[in-house]
Amino acid sequence: MVTSRALPFDVRIPILNAPMGGVAGGALAAAVSGAGGLGMIGMGSSGSVASLQRQLPLVPNGVRVGIGLVDWVVRREPGLLDLALDAKPVLLSVSFGDDFGWIARAHERGVLTAAQIFDAEGAARAHAAGADVIVARGREAGGHGRHLVDRDELLDAVLAATARPVLAAGAIATAADVRRVRERGASGAWVGTAFTACREALSSPAQRRALIEAGPEDTVLTSVFDRAAGYAWPADIPERVLANDFTRRWSEEFDSEVAGRELAAANAADDPRGMSINAGLGVGELREERSAAEVLAALAGE
Ligand SMILES: Cc1cc2nc3c(=O)[nH]c(=O)nc-3n(C[C@H](O)[C@H](O)[C@H](O)COP(=O)(O)O)c2cc1C
Repeated sequence: MVTSRALPFDVRIPILNAPMGGVAGGALAAAVSGAGGLGMIGMGSSGSVASLQRQLPLVPNGVRVGIGLVDWVVRREPGLLDLALDAKPVLLSVSFGDDFGWIARAHERGVLTAAQIFDAEGAARAHAAGADVIVARGREAGGHGRHLVDRDELLDAVLAATARPVLAAGAIATAADVRRVRERGASGAWVGTAFTACREALSSPAQRRALIEAGPEDTVLTSVFDRAAGYAWPADIPERVLANDFTRRWSEEFDSEVAGRELAAANAADDPRGMSINAGLGVGELREERSAAEVLAALAGE
């Protein structure tokens, strides 16, 4: 067993809930931190100053959490990065951009940083920019990303590319998964999908049912929801979602006006046949709605 590198913050269980837009609000993050992990509030494609202002007060005084933002959303929303830094998060991440300038800005304010990367080259650049923690996100993962390298292969490559602590990400859904990545040298796990059906999450009842019923064969990589919503995601960053009527209907041709109307209607009706439900290849391990503390304890093997 490899001795894992120490994380730069205090945590009893070295497991973080990934900052998931539309899922990981203040209540989920507070529950994860309260149970001994590190909770992250996620601001995704529709992240905004107003939305972060709504989530921050849900974290009780004395409970410390991290905050995760998205690069192109930070550029669109003036004030979002400063608001996140003003909240003095334990850890800040800004994902899905190639410019790591936010790391220096966080350090000027005394805030630790985690950079999510998809290949060894990204790890080297995040290291050079001073990232305190590197998140090695394998292609199995749910949500947006460059789905390039298998998780364990990426973890090995990133551990070789940096001496900083590395968190493994991608289909970490059981205690055995956590053990496996820690034995390979990860300092902990950055876990998304396993927390999506938590009672404290912002996911809707219909989304949770769809997640619980799904298996890994039900996920696809797509950009159709982003195109329909008019989001400014880079073309090479699709999202891993549950396949549904919408992904099947729009996989060949695309009409942004019609698709946009259909997506808005499905969202308004909480209809999983037409909504974007992000999930990774570990989705088959979701069996029921549980509390974040139960999910965390199960992942930690407690
Ligand atoms: C529902 C959902 C929403 C996500 N939203 C974000 C986000 O807003 N920002 C971000 O950095 N990563 C986001 N991700 C990706 C996670 O950071 C992480 O890479 C992924 O969840 C890890 O794989 P797993 O889902 O298989 O555990 C999201 C993932 C999911 C499942």
